[in-house]
Amino acid sequence: MTLRQAQGADGDEPIGPATAVRASGVGKVFATEKGDVTALTEVDLEVAAGEFVSLIGPSGCGKSTLLRLIADLDTATTGGLEIFGKPARTARVDQDYGIAFQQAGLLPWRTVEANIALPLELRKTTKTERDARVAELVELVGLADFADRYPDQLSGGMQQRVAIARALASRPRLLLMDEPFGALDEMTREYLQSELARIAAETGAAVVFVTHSIPEAVFLSDRVVVMSPRPGRITRIIPTDLGPVRDEALRETPAYFERVTAVREALHGAPVSRASER
Ligand SMILES: Nc1ncnc2c1ncn2[C@@H]1O[C@H](COP(=O)(O)OP(=O)(O)O)[C@@H](O)[C@H]1O
Ligand SMILES: [Mg+2]
Repeated sequence: MTLRQAQGADGDEPIGPATAVRASGVGKVFATEKGDVTALTEVDLEVAAGEFVSLIGPSGCGKSTLLRLIADLDTATTGGLEIFGKPARTARVDQDYGIAFQQAGLLPWRTVEANIALPLELRKTTKTERDARVAELVELVGLADFADRYPDQLSGGMQQRVAIARALASRPRLLLMDEPFGALDEMTREYLQSELARIAAETGAAVVFVTHSIPEAVFLSDRVVVMSPRPGRITRIIPTDLGPVRDEALRETPAYFERVTAVREALHGAPVSRASER
């Protein structure tokens, strides 16, 4: 158990089921005009409560498909998915998770705070509750001074923070993120990675994070799930063992470099050094 896993979502909340996501024998076949496309096959994965897990692999290996199955945005062809011990459908209705994608997907006619408040409005919370929660969230993502701005007045990185705050609005115990920093420049990206690590630790939420950046996966994760395409499957699961503190100094440590190398070798299917000697 990591430090994060030991805490409830708010410190004082009771600890829920120990497993956030359980995928057993999950397969997904898309029927297309050119025939069946097997996007995923035999995927077994458990994500513990409070755990940060990245899915990494080449384009088309089924990362987004797996995330969409977890989010109940699509249904598996074979196998089963449980979110906190519930069917994916029930977890969606109960808003057990928040979602953030590569495009922030903000409503342009709503201010930062009104965008963040949206999931709370759908949940029919009182205005007083909502205002208090939104104030907390803009603080959490460092946008307190921008609460009344509109999305087109924000940088890409700031828009992505709003998307994260919105995903966290109803205090989900699970965050599902599909390349949320993929469209950002490298500096902003590293900065937001640190912010996300802090936010995940503070909220105690489990995270399933899709990326094709090896350093990003290693920096953020407790475990990195390496996938291969055709048909998409899990080839390796690499624990990072880097401890609970994910700060800029970590990026300079030998342990971090070692893990980056391990994930790179797993992705390429052979030790990088030996392969280049041949
Ligand atoms: N709705 C769909 N219909 C047909 N094929 C799809 C659909 N969604 C994904 N695929 C196919 O499934 C495979 C996995 O896609 P995806 O999960 O998006 O990969 P990744 O996110 O790892 O790049 C790809 O071959 C893709 O073309
Ligand atoms: Mg994808």
